[in-house]
Amino acid sequence: MKEPTPISDKTSATSREVTIGSRKLSSRFFLAPLAGYTHLAFRVMLRRLGGLGLATTDLVQAQMLVSQTRKSMELVGTSPEDRPLSVQIFSGVIEHLVAAARWLEDHDYQGIDINMGCPMAKVNGAGGGARLMCDTSGATDMVGRVIDAVNLPVTVKMRLGWDSDNLTAPELAAAFERIGVAAVTVHGRTRHQGFQGPVNRVGIAETVAAVKSMPVIANGDVCTPAEAFSMLKETGCAAVAIGRGAMLDPWLFRKLNDIEIGQQPREPTTDEQIAFLSDHFELMTRQHGDYSCQLFRKFAAWYGARLGIPEDLEDRLRRFESAAEFARIVDEIRLRHGERQSTVPTALVKVPNGPVERW
Ligand SMILES: Cc1cc2nc3c(=O)[nH]c(=O)nc-3n(C[C@H](O)[C@H](O)[C@H](O)COP(=O)(O)O)c2cc1C
Repeated sequence: MKEPTPISDKTSATSREVTIGSRKLSSRFFLAPLAGYTHLAFRVMLRRLGGLGLATTDLVQAQMLVSQTRKSMELVGTSPEDRPLSVQIFSGVIEHLVAAARWLEDHDYQGIDINMGCPMAKVNGAGGGARLMCDTSGATDMVGRVIDAVNLPVTVKMRLGWDSDNLTAPELAAAFERIGVAAVTVHGRTRHQGFQGPVNRVGIAETVAAVKSMPVIANGDVCTPAEAFSMLKETGCAAVAIGRGAMLDPWLFRKLNDIEIGQQPREPTTDEQIAFLSDHFELMTRQHGDYSCQLFRKFAAWYGARLGIPEDLEDRLRRFESAAEFARIVDEIRLRHGERQSTVPTALVKVPNGPVERW
């Protein structure tokens, strides 16, 4: 086993920077992965606004990554602007995880995040996935093998435990620290809770208390600057990962940064919001070509509400077929935004019917 990460960041409830393994991150506000949303284009847009310390890709199936399937290559698609970035992998097979980690190192990625939530995982045929949270030695064995295989910092994303009777995150975090995990992100709910019920900040604080110096990144239901700062204060975490809150308000990281440097948090102007819309799509086309039209449609309602665009324009944004048509819609939005009452969306990104147990 490698030596644990030597850097102490446990006091960083008051420090704006976070060190994760060999990486120094200039902000303690991170983007939590939201499969299908926090793709390259969205990440780059957030980075351009400032204040984002670290982003993580959607989870990628380790074996698919090594086989370089089209879907997995899209998921790990990145650009020089998209830094610092970690790639999140999962698998029930240790060898696949190790191979994926090596692949990432060979292809110049800078960080590996292991998702501890896969329900299907089988580790040496005995239990696995989020169940691994009940099996500290199985979990540390799996993660330790990855750590031993690469020089990149390896982090783990997990929940507080399997259910309220098994809040194992503190024990696991301490064990992970001993084998050299660079940081853990803790979504402050159990696997059993899904996305229901309150985030247990005390449970996150207990995880922070259980480690010596490894940064703990707190996650769950942070949607405003006030919630981000109270999460830091109440848990003593080194950093906060924000998922759905960043979809509600992409300017959240910029606002947090404004506050960190003692300024008033800036709300975006209408022009900035329209530029965000158009640049977001432009970045998507760079990666996905014509398919972007389809991919972008799921953001139509959000932009419609935020910009107060009339129903007919929102409807066209939901159905457009080409970049030229998109450009015409944006021209009309410039003229007609605010015809409808504009609102800052408050409904969180829906938890899809799919395999939420992974997250
Ligand atoms: C649509 C959706 C997709 C998600 N995809 C992932 C994922 O790929 N990997 C992961 O570790 N967590 C995933 N999560 C969980 C989030 O990263 C996060 O832990 C959870 O949403 C709580 O944080 P939040 O309240 O800030 O969103 C997903 C959640 C949602 C709602």
